[in-house]
Amino acid sequence: MRKIYIAGNWKMNLTFQAADDFFFHLAEYLQSTGTGDVQALICPPFTYMELATDTADQTSLSIGAQNVSQYDNGAFTGEISADILSSMDVEYCLVGHSERRQIFQESDSLINQKIQKLRKYFLIPILCVGESLSERESGKAVEVVQNQLSKCLESIEIDNDLMIAYEPVWAIGTGKTASPQQAEEIHKMIRDWIAAKYGEQVAADLPILYGGSVNPANLAELLAQPDIDGGLIGGASLDIESYIKMLKIAQKI
Ligand code: 13P
Repeated sequence: MRKIYIAGNWKMNLTFQAADDFFFHLAEYLQSTGTGDVQALICPPFTYMELATDTADQTSLSIGAQNVSQYDNGAFTGEISADILSSMDVEYCLVGHSERRQIFQESDSLINQKIQKLRKYFLIPILCVGESLSERESGKAVEVVQNQLSKCLESIEIDNDLMIAYEPVWAIGTGKTASPQQAEEIHKMIRDWIAAKYGEQVAADLPILYGGSVNPANLAELLAQPDIDGGLIGGASLDIESYIKMLKIAQKI
């Protein structure tokens, strides 16, 4: 049985005070109510990592980073290594987010190097894939996602130490969610692709999250799909009430 993940990607949002308040209320909720088989996961900005991992120490919360360097350690001003993240008890790290692909020109081969570095330090990559609007409209969604998977995972052996997030670019921050059927079609394709490359068991255990305008109003119908194992949530994860609402919705599935 795969867990359901409610993963918040805060991106470059929230002040220190707001992050502190969020973690205080989340800890209170997780300690008093718990989430059963639902895994709460937050990917905050690096500067709030200690706040985040302190909360994780006292609760069932898991923590992810939003980015990692492709290098081990050394003279790389402004970068954060997988070694540093691992020393702070960070468990997960996003790689291949479309904002990093588009705004910071990250290529599939750079993402591949980052995944290798994360695995070296025993962090679990959350590999983000997804097509643009024009790629979807020209019927190329499947081809684009398969191409990203094959290049980002080239020469990488996985075994229960990867998570994938399908995030159609046209649904991110636009208020336009993929329909549950559109999302399920790609999720199923991703699971089949993983099964062909790594075997049925790895595919059956692989968490595949959906991201793109997920909120408390549309989460339940997305989670009802057999191959959608959670949400990677931007805007709606910034508010503690909305985040807790989504944990509760996931628990009812
Ligand atoms: P939104 O939920 O704000 O659309 O962002 C999705 C996302 O990019 C999560 O990584």
